Amino acid sequence: MPDRTTLNAVRKPLPHDSAIRHVTGSAPYIDDLPEPQGTLHIALGLAPIARGRLVALDLDAIRAKPGVVAVLTAADIPGKNDVSPALGDEPMFADDEISFHAQPVFAVVATTRRIARKAARRARIEAVPELPAVDIADALETGETVLPDYAFLRGTPDPALKGAPHRLAGEIEIGGQEHFYLEGQIALAIPGEGGDIFVHSSTQHPSEVQHIVARVLGLADHAVTVECRRMGGGFGGKESQASHWAAIAALAAQVTGKPCKLRLDRDDDFALTGKRHDFRSRYTVGFDDRGVIAAYDIEHLARCGYSADLSLGVVDRTMFHSDNAYFLPHARIASRRLKTNTVSNTAFRGFGGPQGVLAMECVIDAIAHTLGRDPLDVRKDNLYRTGRDITPYGMQVFDCETLSPIIDALERSSRYRARREEIAAFNAASPILKRGIALTPVKFGISFTLKHLNQAGALVHVYSDGSVMLNHGGTEMGQGLNTKVAQIVADEFGVPIERVKITATSTAKVPNTAPTAASSGSDLNGMAAKIAARTIRDRMAAEAARRLGMPVEAVHFAHGRVLAGEASMTFAELAKACYLDRIALSSTGYYATPGITWDRQQQTGRPFFYFAYGAACSEVVIDTMTGEMKLETVDILHDCGHSLNPAIDIGQIEGGFVQGLGWLTTEELVFDGEGRLRTHAPSTYKIPVASDIPAHFRVTLWDEPNHEDAIYRSKAVGEPPVMLAISVFSAIADAIHAVRPGRPVTLRAPATPEAILDALDRQRSPAA
Ligand code: MTE
Ligand code: MOS
Repeated sequence: MPDRTTLNAVRKPLPHDSAIRHVTGSAPYIDDLPEPQGTLHIALGLAPIARGRLVALDLDAIRAKPGVVAVLTAADIPGKNDVSPALGDEPMFADDEISFHAQPVFAVVATTRRIARKAARRARIEAVPELPAVDIADALETGETVLPDYAFLRGTPDPALKGAPHRLAGEIEIGGQEHFYLEGQIALAIPGEGGDIFVHSSTQHPSEVQHIVARVLGLADHAVTVECRRMGGGFGGKESQASHWAAIAALAAQVTGKPCKLRLDRDDDFALTGKRHDFRSRYTVGFDDRGVIAAYDIEHLARCGYSADLSLGVVDRTMFHSDNAYFLPHARIASRRLKTNTVSNTAFRGFGGPQGVLAMECVIDAIAHTLGRDPLDVRKDNLYRTGRDITPYGMQVFDCETLSPIIDALERSSRYRARREEIAAFNAASPILKRGIALTPVKFGISFTLKHLNQAGALVHVYSDGSVMLNHGGTEMGQGLNTKVAQIVADEFGVPIERVKITATSTAKVPNTAPTAASSGSDLNGMAAKIAARTIRDRMAAEAARRLGMPVEAVHFAHGRVLAGEASMTFAELAKACYLDRIALSSTGYYATPGITWDRQQQTGRPFFYFAYGAACSEVVIDTMTGEMKLETVDILHDCGHSLNPAIDIGQIEGGFVQGLGWLTTEELVFDGEGRLRTHAPSTYKIPVASDIPAHFRVTLWDEPNHEDAIYRSKAVGEPPVMLAISVFSAIADAIHAVRPGRPVTLRAPATPEAILDALDRQRSPAA
């Protein structure tokens, strides 16, 4: 049947379906749900050291406390003591070995949260400490990794480096980042009949939570149902790391026979959950007199924490983005996944990509500073273009000519060249305050690099009154996925979006789903829902054709009506007619991304369906006496293809940029020598606030269709904008460079005032 879909919802800037409920406090999160009668509360007992052997655990004083119903340890687990996503290396409760400070050792289940927390402190934990490996330097000494080393090789980098007219080598320090979702990790487990368990979990990955709960409890997957209506933010932090809390709550429910809730408080959430990986990246780059790169050799050292978690995919994505937008004729891109006695690092918006991109942009700045060229010119001269369009991992950048026009347009609209001159004049006259500007691009690969995750399912019902219920495997974390999928389904049936009800994600409705991650939520679930709705629509169209006496090709759906020539009926009338004629009004839909062929072992094939592009121009001013920095202006031009919802996409771009800004300027994680996280609350860990946002913060969409057949020719938007904030970091480097031009700047991320002062010292010091 020809596609006669009229777009009334898709591409419209409709508000987030819960926007009003979010701001009026009537969008329930798990802790807002009415607690079932008899709900018990859980507090955790945590390891007092970062590494060592657990020799004795005396919990009698806890058991004796009134109100305590159960105390759970590894010995109480009927299934496997393992909450890892894949490798079996993450115990739910530390058994004999302690792997990081504050690792959960036991759980107290009590009638109130307060009793549980107070009782948990009565434990006597005896442990023999060993010397922990806390940071990257420690891990390099022990040489321990959580996964084998891995590298891409393209061409012959060694001779190409030797033969290049210029060479630079350096090391880039890149900090981690705490997710700081507003809703912390939480789960509420409710026992059902026959040993079944129902879990409300704040998770990006309900299917994995289901499988892990089943594994821990020794149940079949079908005995466990996991539901998530919405998260108060996930940002990658609830992709693999929601399972642990759900599994503990489920065990407590299984043991006590009562509903059990576990909510981490903010300090515990900081200490007990993984973060963005911090990196040390060492490079050598060879280039010509214009700064065109001949060869690039980089080794990424990533702190993974005590277990693998998602470090395979995360650090692979760092490698996949080590080119950012630039052609590297010869390259070695190597990685080490270092094991430390710290919490296991995990997904965080960009999934490792931002670290690879940041390193490359620092290298470009260093090349430009060495040659005395404008960094923007060096960027432009290195961009992928036709004939220079093969990535270090062998994939062709099919639409590589997209990026140049975006950069050129932003260069004009931001008045980059004129401002560059104004800034030079300002800096010449200003000994203390220095300004800096940078315009940086981003190219981000869309798809999971683990091939099998690129699939999705949906379930759509049309009721006999013509209202529509929609369910899909994706989860809502504020990014507007449900709104976008509802827009797609509304247009498929030609009904107003209010006729489409979005329901909580549930493993009982759509099984075996991928996490909502890799920015591909709307690409995958939007397609699956469209396919489900199309199946029902085709059945309904045949019925309409019969009733209206017209060929089925003439039938179309729009504005709540079904039309064929002169004849028409309402969608609700047709739904009723279908029911009476015994036509099924429910369907599943399934989608698998086409064309993905990446083979990690052979390093061949295509990992990404397409790339999303963007560019940002930021201007900063720094105080060279104090290291303070102020972001003055931001102009962004970002590619969402034909946007499914421009209002939501602009929100994602703003939010992603600001989250990247926090990562690169203020958010600093400090572990002490004992492996204790000392920054575990907003008092010591600074995320951006409204006053950090410049008055001039302009976001424009680059509205060209996706060249690939993604849902309505849109492009994914969730993660790429994080890397637009690298323009701020580069602008800070530009301002520091003004202190002594010609010397490459060494600035660590985050560029806190201390880091800026250190970089200024190096810039001024007589010996380079
Ligand atoms: N936006 C909000 N408001 N809250 C979030 O937790 N997570 C980000 C991004 N945008 C997030 C967000 C991350 S890490 C990803 S992978 C995508 O949303 C996931 O959703 P999508 O695939 O539907 O874009
Ligand atoms: Mo996003 S880091 O892929 O959850």
